[in-house]
Amino acid sequence: MITVLDKERVGEEDMQNAFLLEDYLKMSDAEIAAGIERARETLGSRVVILGHHYQRDDVIAHADLTGDSYQLSVMAAQRKDAEFIVFCGVHFMAESADILGQPHQKVILPDLGAGCSMADMATVEQVEDAWEQLREIGVLKQKVAPITYMNSSAAIKAFCGRNGGVVCTSSNAVPLFDIYLKEYDKMFFFPDQHLGRNTGAKFGIPLEKMALWNPFEELGGNTEEELHAAKLILWRGHCSVHGRFKPWHVDQVRAEQPDIKVLVHPECMREVVEISDLNGSTSFIINTVTNAPSGSKWAVGTELNLVLRLQKQFPDKEIRLLAPDLCMCATMYRIAPQNLAWALDNLVAGRVVNQIKVDDATKHYALIALERMINLTEQNQSKKN
Ligand code: 13P
Ligand code: SF4
Repeated sequence: MITVLDKERVGEEDMQNAFLLEDYLKMSDAEIAAGIERARETLGSRVVILGHHYQRDDVIAHADLTGDSYQLSVMAAQRKDAEFIVFCGVHFMAESADILGQPHQKVILPDLGAGCSMADMATVEQVEDAWEQLREIGVLKQKVAPITYMNSSAAIKAFCGRNGGVVCTSSNAVPLFDIYLKEYDKMFFFPDQHLGRNTGAKFGIPLEKMALWNPFEELGGNTEEELHAAKLILWRGHCSVHGRFKPWHVDQVRAEQPDIKVLVHPECMREVVEISDLNGSTSFIINTVTNAPSGSKWAVGTELNLVLRLQKQFPDKEIRLLAPDLCMCATMYRIAPQNLAWALDNLVAGRVVNQIKVDDATKHYALIALERMINLTEQNQSKKN
């Protein structure tokens, strides 16, 4: 549940006095940046600002901590002292921070329009209906693990928590698939078909053992036999930003620069990932480019703001966007410095705006799935070290 202004906390009169976002839209960039820093100083350790790698530079400049979706969820769980977690990212990330945070903490999303079109491609009602259909045809007599990508609603995370499943992100999908594929007969993965297919392929699962579930068709558009035979059932969802990268973009950059390396996010379609040189989460992409030798050449298939930042940080390396057209996540971009300044000034004045709150029943089971993810990821990391 989202509240634009926390009425119980501030009362009607203060609500009238709340700072108006439209006033911030009239200010200069310099005034906004100075205002954010002033508010941060006043709030001190009461506030922590988290920024996802896809945020624009003028927002990242004010973040205390930056990371990929997995790292940010761990950071949110660790910053127990901060009263306010201001999340510069998208809605599902802020929800996860609220689930993992402490009861006294309040999570704020500076623009409530910052959603994720992929997360919206699966509703919990559709997922529950799909699960019942699988039960009716006897598929659930086998051990089936429901696994959701972090890019999903809290309600879907709770569904996974209730049914023995887990959450994963692009940075830990491989170790979590490894565990679940060994322990279960099959996996039902939502909502990103591409991450599911790309990860399944890493375990040698053939495409004919991966069924695609279309929520608008009976049995997801499959026959009973196909669903019984499948090792992986993939929800028909995708990222509209990463979906813009096509195999011919890879061919084109290689034709122009034969020594270029193609590095993509696993939300890209299978046909792109299988011909790329490397694929991995936003952190993997950053680490790969950071550790690459000076003079190396990279075509990067991920969100525009991250690629532009890498170009600025590493002028000694040749870094280009894999596709020339605009691959920008418009919802991530909704978080502008003006929204951040407005949210922080309201906090300074004792008003909590744009709070993201997950109800207690959902939180209980979603926390099980998120904690399972963090524990299994940490166990896997310590095994490797
Ligand atoms: P990461 O898990 O790599 O941060 O990606 C999140 C995301 O939304 C990518 O589109
Ligand atoms: Fe969602 Fe794609 Fe934007 Fe990531 S890049 S937040 S998956 S729409």
